[in-house]
This record gives sequence, C-alpha cells and structure tokens, in this order.
Amino acid sequence: MQKQKTISGFSKLSKKGKLEWLVKHFFKDPENVMRELMSFWHSDEAQQHIFDGFSENTISNYYLPFGIAPNFQINGKIYALPMVIEESSVVAAASSAAKYWLDRGGFHAQVIKTTKIGQVHFTWKGSIQLLGSVFPALKEQLIRDAAPITANMENRGGGVLDIQLLDMTHLETDFYQLRVSFETCDSMGANFINSVLESYADSLRAFFKKQTAFSEEEQEVDVIMSILSNYTPECLVRAWVECPVEDLDPCVEAITADAFADKFAKAVRIAQIDPYRATTHNKGIFNGIDAVVLATANDFRAVEACGHAYASRDGQYRSLSQCEVKDGKFRFWLDLPIALGTVGGLTRLHPIARKSLELLGNPSAKELMEIIAVAGLAQNFAAVRSLITTGIQQGHMKMHLHNILTHFGASELEVGEAFSYFSDKVVSFSAVREFLEIFRAKTIPG
Ligand code: MEV
Repeated sequence: MQKQKTISGFSKLSKKGKLEWLVKHFFKDPENVMRELMSFWHSDEAQQHIFDGFSENTISNYYLPFGIAPNFQINGKIYALPMVIEESSVVAAASSAAKYWLDRGGFHAQVIKTTKIGQVHFTWKGSIQLLGSVFPALKEQLIRDAAPITANMENRGGGVLDIQLLDMTHLETDFYQLRVSFETCDSMGANFINSVLESYADSLRAFFKKQTAFSEEEQEVDVIMSILSNYTPECLVRAWVECPVEDLDPCVEAITADAFADKFAKAVRIAQIDPYRATTHNKGIFNGIDAVVLATANDFRAVEACGHAYASRDGQYRSLSQCEVKDGKFRFWLDLPIALGTVGGLTRLHPIARKSLELLGNPSAKELMEIIAVAGLAQNFAAVRSLITTGIQQGHMKMHLHNILTHFGASELEVGEAFSYFSDKVVSFSAVREFLEIFRAKTIPG
C-alpha cells in the first residue's frame, strides 16, 4: 500500500503528469485537489515558465502576500518598502514605526564593510612550516589559474581580496584551510565565490603534485570541500534611530517619555542577557528583514543563518539590537551582517522581485543592506514599543479576527459588527464562530 506512494522518474513526468500521480496517491478528492492546485497556475504561460524554472518538480505556485510599508525615511531619502510575509501585523508594525520615526529625523544606516568569505578545507600530511614555505608560490598560482573567472568581477571593482592559509591541525589531524576573502559588488556572489574556490581546489591539487622537493605522501592533498561561508561578520551594516528623550511619544497616556525610554532600554537589555528573550527579540527583527529579503528574491536562509551566528559571536546568543539612553538622548541601533545581491540570482528573474527593486529605486547591494537593516530595526522598535506599553495582542488580534472572519466567509456587514463586538473582548476561533452563529440566526431573512 505504502509502496504505491513511491515512484521513480517523477521528475521526468510532465507537470500535469506529476499532479495526476500526486493527487491519485495522496489525496482523498483527487479531482478537486487537482483543480484547486491548477487554479494557482499563472494564466500567462510565459510567466509560469519563469516560475517553474526556479526549482524542480513544480506542480503549482505557493502564494504569499506582497505588502507595502510606506513612509520610511532612510538617510534622508523616502522609501516604500516591499514586504513578503505571511504573518499578520508585521507590515502594519513596520508602517507604524516608519511613521513614528519620520517625525523624528527618520532612520540612519551605514554599511561598515562588504567582505565575504569562502573556504577550501583540505587535509595534508605535512608540517605547517613546509606548507608555509610554498604558500607564496601557491597563492600566485591560485590567482593565475582563476583569472578567467575573476576577470569580470575585477572589472566591476570586486574580486578576490586575500587568500590566507590557516593551520587547523590543533582541532583536527592534518586539517588546513584556505580562507579567501571576496568583494562581490552588487551580487550576493555565491556562484562567483564557489567557482573561484573550486578552481583553487583544482590548482591546489595540481600544485602539490608538482612539488618535486616533497615526498610522495606530501604531494597528495585531499580537498574535503570548497564552499563559501554564509557567516559574513565583515559584511556588516548598522542602522539606527536617535532623538531627544523628550521627543519620544510613549503612545499610551500612563507613561512619560522618560519612563518609556528607560523601559525600552531595559527590554533591549533583557534580550542582551537572556537567550530565551533574545531569540524572540531577534525573531521580531527578522520579521522585517526576511520580508524585504524575500520581496527582493534574496536568500533568506543565508541571511537568517548569518544573523543568528553573529548574535552568538561571544559564545552566548544575544539581541542583535542595542539601546542607550544617555544625556537626554535615546539611541537604538542594530548591527547586522548580511550578504545581499541586487543583480544575479533571482533578483532580476522573479517578476515581483524586479518590481520590488524598482520600487526601491534599483538600489546597489550596499543601499539594500541599509534598507533591510532599517526594516529589521523598525520591526524591532514596533514590537518592543508594543510589548512595554499595550502588549502585542491588541494589534495582533485585529488581524487574527480578520483572518477568522475570512475563514467563516463573513459578509461586510458581519465583519463590521464583529469588529465592534470584539473591540473589548478576547478574540478566539470559537468566540468568533459563536458570535457569527448568533448574529446569523438573528438576521436570517423572514
Ligand atoms: C512576533 O512575530 C514577534 C514578536 O514576538 C517579537 C518580540 O517579541 O520582540 C512580537
């Protein structure tokens, strides 16, 4: 029985063939499921062809909302941020933080560095002294052999910045590493970096083979792997907001601007010292970051992995943002390592990503780093502001209520009635169902 659910040659079936096989073996209502999944195919075949090209074994498209958070002032320029996210309240929170800081000088951001890293991991049965003695010649060879790959990037102002030899034998027997630093300009650079590294791996093997002064064993080098590192602490951007404490509006009457600033700083401090809170705090930051990363078709897994590694850089997982209240001034900032592209990858292939980039004024990768760091900081500001004042459920529940009403197919009239009914009540799935049942019973015609 279970065997029927396995198949060989799935990838060779047509898209329709894949769907037919799938619905037949995994769904109770094959025809309807097939119809529903096909209803998400793009009506324009050429567009659909583009989407199908992004991945393998595609059977349909998975939709996510594409929203806009307007009114972001970043380094004096106004942006409307494209955000792709499935979670309610995120876009609303970003928009509200944008508006808040628009009246207080806006957001500031600065790229600190843009260096990326790649590694060739290899084992070699010889001494570091011997390796060190041939390294200058090896380095020249690596650069020479990879010249056809690096030429184009060099013309764009990037390329390989340095190649270091690291002795890792204290951690693992015979383990050495080439650590290569790169500048990849406006591309994220994954393909470029990996191609260069694989060329280095080939050159490394050939170079050792040619060392006549080496023993037979020393002429053998075993390349374990050659791959970029998604940890890019030297591809770093800072985003910040600042204003006199007296200019802060706590947004609730019961608290003064001074108390708001102190409580805010304390909340950020808690995320610095407690990993449980830090994880949620940083999750909120990534609500903003990922949404713009996705909207611009950048690699959100790489961005997340890097951000969380950086948050643990001193051995404890901590908040990515920091806050200081000093001499009557409120300063709130975020340091974010992030490798992005505005050319290459899917950035120009995905039709909506292309529109997102156009909406942002076709930014350079550096400018996009700044914009995305600001999106993270704004989201964090909005979340912490809510948490220390009203709590987050108030805002969340509005969207939650909306989603539940949509689920029950509520009419416009019912939505309006439900919103006023639940304005002072706790929203839950069953409470909304009960409300609708009673309301519908009362309003049945006749
Ligand atoms: C929810 O997606 C994000 C928050 O939990 C972030 C936070 O607690 O700072 C609100």
